Amino acid sequence: MSTHKYVLVTGGAGYVGAHTCKALAQAGYTPVVYASLEHGHDDFVQFGPLVQADLLDRTSLRQTFARYDIQAVLHFAAYAFVGESVEKPIRYYRNNIMGSCDLIETMLDQGVHKIVFSSTCAIYGEPQSDLLGEDHPKNPLNPYGVTKLAVERLIEDLGRSRGLEWMNLRYFNAAGADSEAKIGEDHSPETHLIPLVLRAAAKGEKIKIFGTDYGTPDGTCIRDYIHVSDLAQAHVQALRALEQGMPPKAYNLGTGRGYSVREVIQAAREVTGKEILVEETERRSGDPARLVADSTRAQRELRFEPRNSDLKSILESAWKWHLARHFSS
Ligand code: UFG
Repeated sequence: MSTHKYVLVTGGAGYVGAHTCKALAQAGYTPVVYASLEHGHDDFVQFGPLVQADLLDRTSLRQTFARYDIQAVLHFAAYAFVGESVEKPIRYYRNNIMGSCDLIETMLDQGVHKIVFSSTCAIYGEPQSDLLGEDHPKNPLNPYGVTKLAVERLIEDLGRSRGLEWMNLRYFNAAGADSEAKIGEDHSPETHLIPLVLRAAAKGEKIKIFGTDYGTPDGTCIRDYIHVSDLAQAHVQALRALEQGMPPKAYNLGTGRGYSVREVIQAAREVTGKEILVEETERRSGDPARLVADSTRAQRELRFEPRNSDLKSILESAWKWHLARHFSS
């Protein structure tokens, strides 16, 4: 009999997925990464086997469940560029929703009932309160958010009809990098603020500030940045909660503290010791002024602790990663 406690990690070669694989390995699981590598990185797969295949490839899904004695699924694989989702909705609906249908139907057919799903605060849309709790109305502003909400609903429906046991984890702004493993944030194209600010610092380029006329203290958007290693740990805790028979639930993962774009840039100047020039430009469409989590539910019920998520630690770890990834010989 296998001594491995296999869990399937779709998208485990991506940013949050790879960090979660590390946390899973440390907790005694063997993550089997299922990834197309369209956006993921094979060098991020360091903690268990890799199956390189598409979510929409049902034969490959079935073979993977047959080959490994999978106990649970952590489902990260998805297209996740908000702007692209507006341009190419069919691509997002097909990959994110149909891919999830294939994955979940296959796992249930193979007798696997536990899933932790990678969701997002993008499902809430325009905030109606300062802190967003899980019961906030859900009106996603773009197809990416719509697809994540649709998969949440699919999972809930399958909980009722087929006994799927689930946890839906809604991330705010994932940031930072692991302090030891050679994994970090490396999207192509990169659209996120922190890697772009660090790139600007390293290359002496300007960072654009998208909008300075928001109704926030310094006029720029406020976000709740959460260290990716804290997110990763939350997945392990959600999986354990499922194993202990805790009821399915959605959880926000953030810190409850927001930082403006200008504050992030200023903190990056301090961490990198670089000047970092800015260019103030028009708003980017679809950006709410402020997105900050109320994650007391996760803290109380999953013992979620954002212990690495002060902005300085996030930036220091991201800077270290950025220099190693892009500037080491
Ligand atoms: N920003 C800039 N300049 C840049 C890049 C970003 O000013 O070059 C600003 C954005 O306008 C935004 C803030 O920095 O106000 C953060 O932007 P990111 O792109 O880093 O992150 P988002 O808040 O847009 O995205 C996050 C998640 C998405 C999720 C979205 C929900 O990464 O997965 O929140 O709105 F869909």
